[in-house]
Amino acid sequence: MSYARIAGTGSCLPGEPVSNDELVARGIDTSDRWVVERTGIRTRYLAPVDLCTSDLACTASQRALEAAGIGANDIDLVIVATSTPDFIFPSTAALLQSKLGMTNGSPAFDVQAVCSGFIYGLSVAEKFIRSGSHKRALVVGAEIFSRILDWSDRGTCVLFGDGAGAVVLEAAESPGIHASALHADGSHNQILCVPGGIASGQITGDPFLRMDGPAVFKFAVKVLGDVANEVIVQAGLCVDAIDWMIPHQANIRILQATAKRLGLPMEKVIVTVGQHGNTSAASIPLALDLAVRDGRIQRGQRVILEGVGGGFTWGAVLLEF
Ligand code: UT7
Repeated sequence: MSYARIAGTGSCLPGEPVSNDELVARGIDTSDRWVVERTGIRTRYLAPVDLCTSDLACTASQRALEAAGIGANDIDLVIVATSTPDFIFPSTAALLQSKLGMTNGSPAFDVQAVCSGFIYGLSVAEKFIRSGSHKRALVVGAEIFSRILDWSDRGTCVLFGDGAGAVVLEAAESPGIHASALHADGSHNQILCVPGGIASGQITGDPFLRMDGPAVFKFAVKVLGDVANEVIVQAGLCVDAIDWMIPHQANIRILQATAKRLGLPMEKVIVTVGQHGNTSAASIPLALDLAVRDGRIQRGQRVILEGVGGGFTWGAVLLEF
């Protein structure tokens, strides 16, 4: 059985960063001080109307393919994690496959696990590769959350942003991914949701993101700490053996509390929430690509990626980069 390792990373942020003060200027009842103090967020990127999630996914993927030194038709599995697909169907993965010019008939599908989606997608791709059925997967987290925000709800609209991150995961003789864990508890489905749909040509229910922030905060800190420990134990390591942790980027206070619970110094945590806001399934691969490209994450280092999101879903991957 072969292992799976990351061969290249890429990312995409649309347009220019939008500051908290710009949101205030657009009429949102908030302040730079409140948003920075409560979340650590200073800017986020908001996609212009003519861009779709598959466009952001395509740019991030092209950069990951280039970093891996391969072409699109060298990929034999495409997985896109998103909660903001271009359409109900076809999947964003199928649209991405077409935009990349892939003609080799590889399977392509979306994963919907909200902010844990990239971790779910990476774990699924690893299992395909370790089974020997596939050799090179493109795993993408891509979102345009700005389109499902209620811009009159200051408790949510200041938190999220748009973007995409991608990795090429390929078969290797040695790990790669050392351990992974996925979890869900659907009984918490109402604390973070978009409780709407489409029927008979009409929107049914509520098409905007709704969140019980304090309940999500408590849940996130607990499960992010637990699942990081779970993959450390599964890999037979201790926390001191971890070089970097990339948690889902929702709130700097969640990142700090998770690191404290684990006994990991904040210097080992990659933090992008200040610049990107919460980009849901894109946040982890965006942060990974940033830290790889700026030289912090080096080949051979051990990295924990971990996510938590609506559902509730959560999970982690421990890998050697
Ligand atoms: O990706 C999924 C994961 N999502 C998360 O992890 C988010 C988790 N939750 C959080 O990050 C935090 O709960 C929030 C940042 C959403 C909220 O922070 P909080 O410290 O829990 O604030 P709160 O919701 O308890 O609200 C405190 C006060 C309220 O005012 P009153 O009732 O005390 O007068 C809110 O109305 O802050 C007020 N408030 C705001 N004020 C200015 C809420 N949003 C804003 C705002 N600007 N944008």
